[in-house]
Amino acid sequence: MALYSEKVMDHFRNPRNVGVIEGADGIGEVGNAKCGDIMKMYLKIDDDVVTDVKFETFGCGSAIASSSMATELIKGKPVADAMQLTNKAVAEALDGLPAYKMHCSVLAEEAIRLALDDYYGKHPEKAPEGYCPMEPSEEHEQEGGSEEE
Ligand code: FES
Repeated sequence: MALYSEKVMDHFRNPRNVGVIEGADGIGEVGNAKCGDIMKMYLKIDDDVVTDVKFETFGCGSAIASSSMATELIKGKPVADAMQLTNKAVAEALDGLPAYKMHCSVLAEEAIRLALDDYYGKHPEKAPEGYCPMEPSEEHEQEGGSEEE
């Protein structure tokens, strides 16, 4: 069996939704301290729907494929769905990732969560009841889009 599925190779070679959204409603950036890879997600949100999403990933092929697939999974979906997106769902949609590459898909989950945190930080009135921002995971460094005071 090939190490990487055809879907992983396809999204790596032809990544969808690459780029920057000027005036994005939420921006999330996360990096893996061990491998040094960085992923940045931009969200456009209208009426609680993710109307557009773009990413920039400086990282390995699995991270690029994961970000591309993650954007496809949340584009046009309610924000509540984007919030629930797990790295496992991203990996499954890619027909799997090698076990030692699963952490690459975690970057996609966390970058989207951070972009949503950024959005809710700017619009606390839109946050669902009991919403709490993501806890940083140990090996990941993160940054929201907003300037911290
Ligand atoms: Fe760093 Fe894949 S090796 S995200």
